Amino acid sequence: MRFGVLTGGGDCPGLNGAIRGVVYRAAHFGHTTEGFLDGWKGLRDDLHRPLTPAELAESVTLGGTLLGTSRTNPFKAEADAEKVLATLSKNRIDVLVAIGGDDTLSAARELGRRGGKVVGVPKTMDNDVAATDWTFGFDSASSVAMDAVERLRDTARSHHRAIVLEVMGRNAGWVALATGLSAGADATLVPEEPYVEAKLMEQIRRAHARRGYALVVASEGIDLPLEGGGRAEGDQFGHALLRERGVGAWLAKRIEGATGIETRSAQIGHIQRGGPPTLFDRLLSTRLGAGAVDLALAGKFGHVAALHGGEVVGVTIEDATRATKVVDAAWLDLLHTFDA
Ligand code: F6P
Repeated sequence: MRFGVLTGGGDCPGLNGAIRGVVYRAAHFGHTTEGFLDGWKGLRDDLHRPLTPAELAESVTLGGTLLGTSRTNPFKAEADAEKVLATLSKNRIDVLVAIGGDDTLSAARELGRRGGKVVGVPKTMDNDVAATDWTFGFDSASSVAMDAVERLRDTARSHHRAIVLEVMGRNAGWVALATGLSAGADATLVPEEPYVEAKLMEQIRRAHARRGYALVVASEGIDLPLEGGGRAEGDQFGHALLRERGVGAWLAKRIEGATGIETRSAQIGHIQRGGPPTLFDRLLSTRLGAGAVDLALAGKFGHVAALHGGEVVGVTIEDATRATKVVDAAWLDLLHTFDA
């Protein structure tokens, strides 16, 4: 068999581990792999190169994606969709492994509907892909954000300040939740809950009174009364650039105004998406990359390799892309157990 592989959407730690999983697993059973460059753009524009186990030996340790990525949606225009199918047939690709989040997997679903043989690997630092317990990239990104809070704590404590850390996560609060819980924030704001200013100010006053400083973790996607909603249309999948809303800076001003406590904000932006993957993400990406090849070899096209209770299983792409996985009530209940 001849496998094709691409990585689409935002990069995250673990992508190279997944590519390595695909290439090694395919080679293990005597198959070859062609890597398509820059996500769906590579399929549309016929940009690719062969991938061999030898060149990928160390890739599991590296962040980013060695294939490049983009937020290209080839199914927005019929002419592009046809180019994707032509590239697959011209290069004699038997099955495509699409590694990506909701958008990339939705494009893979569309390719499947048009007769392309495709399997998927869910990834995203946002951890918001339905049908898998965890996505790789999330553990690494949240670990960076956790470390950022630890560092901000030193300044907050020394200057008796409140500090707000804004983290990524788009419309799901998993990164904020994990960061707030693991770093001991006094308040954690997620998009799944309404912004209640009086409650936030109370938490900050309480924390400051108790130990002389306060730490807040806020997700970039929380609903705030920003001018124009702060959500202009963005990429080809219709996502706005949320970091430009300035959630952290806005909150810091409100906090200082309401409480009189000197307040600062920090936005770690893409720093949280870079760097070497954590152990968890190396293992998960390796298992899911290899798992996608196993699905294809078993003829389970139209499926993604997903983690279910510790096991790698096949879930249909339709199910995996049905809805965004958001933080549920049980997690929110746990989170608020630790509010200041
Ligand atoms: O989807 C991953 C993500 O990092 C989101 O958390 C964030 O909103 C978005 O990508 C940022 O996108 P870009 O890298 O295109 O600025």
